[in-house]
Amino acid sequence: MIGSAVQSIDSARRGISANLQAERRSALGQFMTPASVARYMASLFSIQPGSRIRLLDPGAGLGALSAAFIHSWQPRAGADSALDVTAYEIDSELRKHLECHMAACRDEVVTQARTLGTTILPYDFIQAAANPLEFGTRADFTHAILNPPYKKISNDSMHRKWLRTNGIETVNLYSAFVALSVQLLMDGGELVAIIPRSFCNGPYYKPFREFIRGIASIEHIHLFGSRNTAFKDDEVLQENVILKLVRGTPQGQVIVSHCADDTFGDYMERICDFSEIVKPGDHEGFIHIPAIEKTASAGLGRQFCHTLADLGVEVSTGPVVDFRMKSYLRALPTADSVPLLYPCHFTGNRLLWPLEKSKKPNAIALHDETRRWLYPSGCYTIVRRFSSKEEKRRVMATVVKPDDLPGGAWIGFENHLNVFHSGKQGLPQELAHGLCAYLNSAMLDQNIRAFSGHTQVNATDLRSLKYPSRQALMRLGRWLKQAEDVTQEQIDERIRAIA
Ligand SMILES: C[S@@+](CC[C@H](N)C(=O)[O-])C[C@H]1O[C@@H](n2cnc3c(N)ncnc32)[C@H](O)[C@@H]1O
Repeated sequence: MIGSAVQSIDSARRGISANLQAERRSALGQFMTPASVARYMASLFSIQPGSRIRLLDPGAGLGALSAAFIHSWQPRAGADSALDVTAYEIDSELRKHLECHMAACRDEVVTQARTLGTTILPYDFIQAAANPLEFGTRADFTHAILNPPYKKISNDSMHRKWLRTNGIETVNLYSAFVALSVQLLMDGGELVAIIPRSFCNGPYYKPFREFIRGIASIEHIHLFGSRNTAFKDDEVLQENVILKLVRGTPQGQVIVSHCADDTFGDYMERICDFSEIVKPGDHEGFIHIPAIEKTASAGLGRQFCHTLADLGVEVSTGPVVDFRMKSYLRALPTADSVPLLYPCHFTGNRLLWPLEKSKKPNAIALHDETRRWLYPSGCYTIVRRFSSKEEKRRVMATVVKPDDLPGGAWIGFENHLNVFHSGKQGLPQELAHGLCAYLNSAMLDQNIRAFSGHTQVNATDLRSLKYPSRQALMRLGRWLKQAEDVTQEQIDERIRAIA
């Protein structure tokens, strides 16, 4: 399977990266993309079923990005579709691996009656793109995916001259690769690149920012939480963003997303007006990446001094972003699907699923493409990210148990839910109930209101709260499990007894 090609490239990456010659590695910016990041990048493209795609992968390395694209294209492409990959790689050693990896992808796709062609070009991409004999005035790639090399370009270098012949003034290989790749896209063509954040501000990148805004629109910016997360195996210390551009379309709103690291466990996104990204009237055209989450700091009593890490619990935003997975959503459960939970499935503190008349889907197809966004069946404490002003409390928590969702080995949690879990597995039932009771208490509600005027409660807010000890929560959970129809007063009384 192509999925296994993605995995085997990832294993090769770990082995080969460690053995690359340090000087050459730094000269050619050879930092390979981990499989999880490559898959995420590929998922950002739109793919029309039955279309003919021409994909550009400049500086392809071992082929992680092309393989992830092919993997994502297969189920979305439909019959009679074709994909032609053009990959540039200057390093002859890496090219040998790239050839094997592309051959493995080709073998798989051909057996499934879709057409995949791969062309590997051993040239300097900048020189080739500047050469009219290579591309002429053609700009007919439909998609470009890139993790370009990162290195300063000196003013008198050949690279600088070649770029100028294409009307591009820029100071680093990464911005040069992005600018040339957008130029090679047809109108409506999409580019997804993982690049350092440095282009967002500073005078050196002003011409690059102007170039990008003149030729394309920014559709999505993803920011990794800390400086070393995207390439942590390579100890690369710089902030990286994933940028999606669409050539020749007017600038609209921008999706901004964040996550802490390459597991995408706490992935969140929101739609921003472009005026939040580039301030109106800013002549420098600085690109701002708005924050999504608000940090909370709780001031509860001394019995409530435990962090989630102390409890062995994590909280993440529901990973299913439905508009990215449209073709996998099911109105009602089917034989090939598993439950998909939205806020509408939670009324008060109860779970009601499936909802026959709901506008939202009730299920999601179980598939290679969806499984990594699902949690295994188990006990989870769920908190809706948005509550209405009418609701008495900001935090409305509910326990989801396997018996509530018959037949599903997996559960999909939609992006408007927060999920308490343990290493992406369910929690012990008592702990899930104990957490639920604590989160539904008046004491916690007052605390949340003290730091936030919003009706929104995000994973970061829940992560920054302080909790009772694991034992206290387990006791609370045992009580809640046995008791019937517990009132708010009874919960609050129990919580006061802990304090
Ligand atoms: C940051 S690595 C990324 C590799 C791969 N795209 C990935 O995501 O794993 C950049 C790659 O570009 C190649 N490269 C560097 N300069 C190049 C150039 N001028 N033309 C073509 N390839 C180049 C390097 O050898 C390296 O494999």
